Amino acid sequence: MNAQVITFKTMETEGKGFLSFFEAMHDIPFEIERVYYIYECPENVQRGGHAHRTLDQLLFCPYGSIEIILDDTSNKTSVMLDSPSKGLIIRGPVWRDMIWKKKDSVLVVAASSYYDESDYIRDYRDFVQYVNEGFLKETK
Ligand code: TYD
Repeated sequence: MNAQVITFKTMETEGKGFLSFFEAMHDIPFEIERVYYIYECPENVQRGGHAHRTLDQLLFCPYGSIEIILDDTSNKTSVMLDSPSKGLIIRGPVWRDMIWKKKDSVLVVAASSYYDESDYIRDYRDFVQYVNEGFLKETK
């Protein structure tokens, strides 16, 4: 599974809270061209339902609790983003669903490329075909 949970470097200021940070190419393995965020979702909303052909992403939840369900056609796993210091790096074609476990949770995504609809795979059968074709190319 091309997905990895990371813990952000975090500074604690006694009595004044925490500061977490990450730097492109230092803490995550790609440059960032775009940041987007999803908010004001009701509880139990499910989003996602797609994969990306080439995009690399870092997902984190600075407020609330969001479950990320991942599927690379061989394996399925689930990651709970329930701490502002936790990040999830997803690289390349991994099918993802996101479930808002708490109302008003915020999902922030740092992405390696500008928005490009042609990088999305929104049909699960197309995704399986895309992954299998890649595998066939590698074994030729
Ligand atoms: P989408 O990625 O499908 O959202 P989710 O996976 O969270 O359900 O994006 C929803 C809509 O927003 C879609 O019409 C494309 C648009 N969009 C942009 O225009 N720019 C962006 O950077 C992103 C992420 C989405």
